Amino acid sequence: MDKIEIIGGSSMSGQISISGSKNGALPIMVCSLLTNDSLTIENVPDLSDINSMISLLQSLNSEVEFKNNKLRINSFKPKLNYASYDLVRKMRASFLVMGPLLARYGNAEVSLPGGCAIGARPINYHIKAFEKMGVSFDIVDGYVKGKVKKNLKGAQINLPIKSVGATENIMMAATLAEGETIISNAAMEPEIENMGDCLIRMGADIRGLGTSLIKINGKKKLDGCSFKVMSDRIEAGTFILAVLGCGGKVNLKLHDEIVIENLKNIFSFSDKLLISDSKDGLIVECEGGGYSPVNIITKPYPGFPTDLQAQLTAVMTKAKGVSVIEETIFENRFMHIAELIRMGASIKIKGPKVEITGGEKIFGAQVMATDLRASSSLVIAGLMAEGKTTINRVYHLDRGYEKLEEKLSQCNIKIKRLKD
Ligand code: UD1
Repeated sequence: MDKIEIIGGSSMSGQISISGSKNGALPIMVCSLLTNDSLTIENVPDLSDINSMISLLQSLNSEVEFKNNKLRINSFKPKLNYASYDLVRKMRASFLVMGPLLARYGNAEVSLPGGCAIGARPINYHIKAFEKMGVSFDIVDGYVKGKVKKNLKGAQINLPIKSVGATENIMMAATLAEGETIISNAAMEPEIENMGDCLIRMGADIRGLGTSLIKINGKKKLDGCSFKVMSDRIEAGTFILAVLGCGGKVNLKLHDEIVIENLKNIFSFSDKLLISDSKDGLIVECEGGGYSPVNIITKPYPGFPTDLQAQLTAVMTKAKGVSVIEETIFENRFMHIAELIRMGASIKIKGPKVEITGGEKIFGAQVMATDLRASSSLVIAGLMAEGKTTINRVYHLDRGYEKLEEKLSQCNIKIKRLKD
């Protein structure tokens, strides 16, 4: 297995092009199952999660071409509407094929999902919503078998908590259901809006995108289209936190006003970061030193994202005093803590909160990546630490960060991949 080696202690300077959003591209790829026509998707990051989704779509009889960050997908009727454990276990977003398969073909059998080991991550809200839309389910041997009883029909769905995946799955199914679907308490993440914009371009009738009340009128069929994926706000946020951790000045190249505004908002807690507009994205500056502790709670969009919690924890080991970060989205998203402690950090887990007593130097060590965002928190810790950090099991990082070493190397960082 590949490893990443980092020599810490440098400040960052240079330019980074932010890739297309992983969490934006994955559901848009699944939209291809809703049409007979070809879907062309641009700005798709070349990541192992994207390749897992390609394999899943191919197993469902789609023809897929992926070259230079551009995907072309043509979906044909599968022999079996079946998503195997081997393909689904790698990534929870695979469960998104359930909605389109039910909508197009009236039945589907999808393995219960895997993905990052960050808590139970059930799919009960997806199932409950589809039941309201006229689907009956059996769970047999780890597979969820859904069958539309008569017709897939629009329904009033009130999500008990905001779920990104459930909102996306219901939206996709609703575009081909009979009548109107109303989703209240819908998640509002920009990636959902991005997918909704793609569905609209495919001919779907959707109102309320970007709000918590989404209304969809089902259509008989959808067409193909060409669509560009938004910039990855979590990748951008990770680099902003790296600048906060190391000091320096980096020009982040990214498009999408909504991502730029959101990044400025979520980092407004820091008086050390200076984030300003540039002609092609954002300039992020930080002098380094003299950090104050923070109190941050992760929240659904537009709040501080859970996907940046681990990275922020690494950075706050620098702030003199006690920082408290509370995780409210996933119950077990603290796998990076034990590794950060091995690097000399003083952190305590107290229920859903972590208490970081910062201000002392951390030191390079051999550490183990455990999930996607935990891994990027170890990268940031490695950049900040004195000496050499070796990160094992970097396949977690390869799920979500395109050309990470290349991008950091261009910013005065000593980082390299050690091939197995
Ligand atoms: C998506 C993102 C992930 C991000 C998360 C929260 C993708 C591919 N992944 O994951 O990076 O961390 O949103 O912003 O876009 N829940 C239930 N029952 C359900 C569905 C969800 O209890 O049926 C719970 C989950 O366990 C979790 C919370 O709802 O506690 C939010 O999960 P959800 O928004 O669904 O996350 P994902 O869509 O899996």
